[in-house]
Amino acid sequence: MDAIRVRGGKPLKGSVRISGAKNAALPILCATLLSDGASRLRNVPALRDIDTTAALLRFLGRGVRVDAPEVHVEAGCDVRPEAPYELVKQMRASVLVLGPLVARFGRAKVSLPGGCAIGARPIDQHLKGLEAMGCSIKLERGYVIAEGPAGGGRLRAAEICFDLPTVTGTENLMMAAALAKGRSTLVNCAREPEVEELGRVLNKMGATVDGAGTDVIHILGRDPGDLEPFDHAIIPDRIEAGTYMCAAAMMPGGDVLVEGAEVQDLEALVMKMRAAGVEITTEGQSIRVRRSGPIRAVNITTAPHPGFPTDMQAQFLVLMSMAQGESVITETIFENRFMHVPELLRMGANVALRGNTAVVEGVDRLYGASVMATDLRASASLIIAGLASDEETEVRRVYHLDRGYERIEEKLGGLGATIARVVGAEA
Ligand code: EPZ
Repeated sequence: MDAIRVRGGKPLKGSVRISGAKNAALPILCATLLSDGASRLRNVPALRDIDTTAALLRFLGRGVRVDAPEVHVEAGCDVRPEAPYELVKQMRASVLVLGPLVARFGRAKVSLPGGCAIGARPIDQHLKGLEAMGCSIKLERGYVIAEGPAGGGRLRAAEICFDLPTVTGTENLMMAAALAKGRSTLVNCAREPEVEELGRVLNKMGATVDGAGTDVIHILGRDPGDLEPFDHAIIPDRIEAGTYMCAAAMMPGGDVLVEGAEVQDLEALVMKMRAAGVEITTEGQSIRVRRSGPIRAVNITTAPHPGFPTDMQAQFLVLMSMAQGESVITETIFENRFMHVPELLRMGANVALRGNTAVVEGVDRLYGASVMATDLRASASLIIAGLASDEETEVRRVYHLDRGYERIEEKLGGLGATIARVVGAEA
């Protein structure tokens, strides 16, 4: 297993280009199953999760060529609509093939994703929506077996109200509705930019999607076989951008231009960082982050978009670990998303966990340590913490990091960080 060693204590300076959004590319790759034609995706990040999704599409029967930043999905209709546990367990987002497969082929057998480090991650809302579209759903030996009406027929349009906003739940049902007969209405949808991006692609394919990115989405489906393939460039990754923004703010003197970020997708984070005393300005399609004075303690509560993103909670908590005063970090989306905290305590942070709340008392410095990555965003937060210490920090099990951050050591190194990957380090 690889590790990353970082020695901080000095400000980051320069510019960093943001890659395409992982959480937009994943559903869009699955949307290629809705059409038999050859599709091309551009601005796709070179990440493990992209490779995993490509492997899944190949297992299903589609030819896929990953040539980052492009991915080509070849034409084909001879698909075996079964996603095995061995692949789905590597990446929960594999559940996003469920909607397209049952909509296009009348049936699907997809392994339940199982939980992950940050929570149980149920998919009841996905299944409820498919049942409303006429699917029969059976759970057998850890698999979801979905079948269209009357033994595999075409899905029917439906009116679906989610019990809570779910990103991949909204995306799965948007894709299913794109081939359902009639006009579906989805209510209480997730409003993330990645959901809006999927709506753009489904419209390119010939579905009629209105309201993607809002809490009510209308989708007029096309007949199976009538959706067109597409050529699409993926939006930039707002969470990667936010991660580098927090990294830039860790040391006084930080001055980083985050290139290619969409500031309107990060309004909650920008407001909280400004409240913390970080200077943030926009320059065209870029965000400049400057850190001059002390960091002020700021409270955050994570929420569905446009609220403060749960995927930025760990990174912001690290910034608050160096603030003047006490900040309260409340995580409302996932039940176990503070696994970075025990590792940060070993670096000298002062954090008290109380249920879904972390009370952070800022300290003057963090110490280098060997720490363990546990999930994607926690890994990034430990790297950011290492940037605040002039001692060496070794983050182990960085395979978590490689799922969602393209060339992180190269990008941080380009900003002046002393950082290197240790291949085959001790687990
Ligand atoms: C997406 O996960 C993202 N992943 C996550 O990013 C992100 O943290 C999450 O949305 C929240 O923004 C992708 O887009 C691939 P949810 P998703 O369904 O769709 C509950 C990262 O770091 N829920 O919006 O799985 C669920 O338990 C990853 O890039 C149900 O109860 O999240 C959670 O509490 C981590 N039933 C809440 O909803 C359901 O059927 C939000 O989950 C579905 C979800």
